[in-house]
Amino acid sequence: MIRLGYLTRSREDLPPDDRWLTARELTGVDGRRTAKRISDWRLGRWTAKAAIGTLLEPATRAGSARASHPAVEVLAAADGAPFAVAGGQTLPIALSLSHAAGRALCAVGAAASAVGCDLERVEPRSAEFVASYFTTGEALAVERAAAPDLLANLIWSAKESALKALRCGLRADTRSVEVTLGPAAPGWGTFHVLATAERRTFRGRWCRIDDLVATLVSAPPAEPVDLDAPTRGASPLGFRLRVEAPVAVTPPSA
Ligand SMILES: CC(C)(COP(=O)(O)OP(=O)(O)OC[C@H]1O[C@@H](n2cnc3c(N)ncnc32)[C@H](O)[C@@H]1OP(=O)(O)O)[C@@H](O)C(=O)NCCC(=O)NCCS
Repeated sequence: MIRLGYLTRSREDLPPDDRWLTARELTGVDGRRTAKRISDWRLGRWTAKAAIGTLLEPATRAGSARASHPAVEVLAAADGAPFAVAGGQTLPIALSLSHAAGRALCAVGAAASAVGCDLERVEPRSAEFVASYFTTGEALAVERAAAPDLLANLIWSAKESALKALRCGLRADTRSVEVTLGPAAPGWGTFHVLATAERRTFRGRWCRIDDLVATLVSAPPAEPVDLDAPTRGASPLGFRLRVEAPVAVTPPSA
């Protein structure tokens, strides 16, 4: 089975300065006007760089997933989707990011795959919200659920993950992707998402992280791998990335 790496980091993991961000990355802050959006953006970048660091050749690795890798830049494509560059080349990986409640989640897969990830706080969702954004089948499942708040947020998160994998985000109608839960399982639960217009199916996995629900989707299907877990020198996803040259980082502030 193909592997899909994931990593989460909290606001407390972030360094106070921006020395780990490149000048090019920092232009991504421009459109983010509130302190919260800037803070979320920084945490996402830190988490992505740490996740990618675990896939780099040992010779160029800056350490463990605890550190941000100085040679890796995480930039945004015109549609907002993240991608990574190192040594002047786009890295051959599929990347997705999410942030919620002071935590970020990053998913990394092989270049040929479509991946999406999302984090949502488990909170009450109104009947109007479910009626407006869920399909009839999803709304019925929430109505019948023993834990409706968990299911509503799980379905919402799975939709966002799939819409990120499709690279349209919330520009698309959220009812254009339909989530069906798999049987209950310990650890990572399963679901699948049918994207009706594209006639594509994504396999998904979900789990609780504190008061949040996390979802990962991919096509082709992939097994989640915690990039924080020790690998004894083996690459966690079965492939390594090579970086030719480090990029210039922003000078330290005086
Ligand atoms: C993608 C989207 C669904 C994310 O929703 P969210 O719950 O607010 O935020 P999350 O923290 O879960 O995810 C944000 C990340 O999604 C990623 N993302 C943004 N647009 C994306 C796209 N088109 N495809 C894939 N990923 C995308 C980015 O990495 C972003 O984080 P970053 O800006 O720090 O790099 C939403 O921002 C969206 O639809 N954006 C595009 C359309 C838009 O801007 N609409 C206005 C709001 S309706």
